[in-house]
Amino acid sequence: DWTNESVIDEQVELIRSRVGDKKVICALSGGVDSSVAAALVHKAIGDQLTCVFVDHGLLREGEREQVENDYVDSIGVRLVTVDAREQFLSQLAGVTDPEEKRKIIGREFIRTFEKAAAELVLEAKDEGEEIGFLVQGTLYPDVVESGGGSGTANIKSHHNVGGLPEDIQFQLIEPLRTLFKDEVRSIGRELGVPEAIVARQPFPGPGLGIRIIGEVTEDRLAILRRADAIAREELTKAGLDNEIWQCPVVLLADVRSVGVQGDGRTYGHPVVLRPVSSEDAMTADWTRIPYDTLSVISNRITNEVDDINRVVLDVTSKPPGTIEWE
Ligand code: XMP
Repeated sequence: DWTNESVIDEQVELIRSRVGDKKVICALSGGVDSSVAAALVHKAIGDQLTCVFVDHGLLREGEREQVENDYVDSIGVRLVTVDAREQFLSQLAGVTDPEEKRKIIGREFIRTFEKAAAELVLEAKDEGEEIGFLVQGTLYPDVVESGGGSGTANIKSHHNVGGLPEDIQFQLIEPLRTLFKDEVRSIGRELGVPEAIVARQPFPGPGLGIRIIGEVTEDRLAILRRADAIAREELTKAGLDNEIWQCPVVLLADVRSVGVQGDGRTYGHPVVLRPVSSEDAMTADWTRIPYDTLSVISNRITNEVDDINRVVLDVTSKPPGTIEWE
């Protein structure tokens, strides 16, 4: 029967026998799935695994540190961080269309990861070793949705940084393929993945990039990051994490409204709180957050975040509203 230990033991055996003495890479996003998948593979093969974390600048407050410090400290995994913040920002300059943003962020993410992987492949080659595998945190629902295919991933040689003759192919390792999210969380805890990562609410791949309505700029990201951190902190403090599926904080960057603060008139931006309750994100209802909590969040954000002078609450269910605004 199903226990965390039996699943872990079985996967560890499987991974060891597949991998042999080859090397393995994994793209860490900071989310639950890739973090637990990498922890499992690390338990099986230790330093044969290298993780790559791409900082695209669209992360929330503290996320990079959570991965670089907390996760690495507790798991002991070898990590390479790629600071791609400027690259993403420059590609996003002037872009306001949501799907265009997604396309750019997805494309730049693949480019950045492939380049890092190519570098690791060359590095391994210099030491007479070979990277043969790529870890992915695919869950059972993803397998079902995509029709069940599994196999290989390619890295195109045009990314290489000094002499890979042709495309590189990796075999995929997907140790979570038979599991549901709650099982993954449970295994993550058993493996010592930090609670802040294991319990993390869903956060979209394009990150804060699709929570700024309008152009994504460094200043706007800084504003949204702070407002988001305050909202998350207060919702956790109020004990609402289990009730809330996720709570996007959305910056209406092209909207201004008049306000008054201290002695002066302000002309700042609104942020929207979008707390939702849901089972699977396909449908959702807006979460009835207690007024007192809303009040604390609103006061703190307008007091502590420059340029935000209004906090509004989204009370739309899904459908017709989506969870994200973009
Ligand atoms: P919507 O906004 O469609 O969101 O109701 C449903 C769930 O999906 C997440 N989401 C995304 N996740 N890339 C992702 O990885 C995306 O482009 C994306 N768009 C939405 C959203 O946060 C919610 O959990």
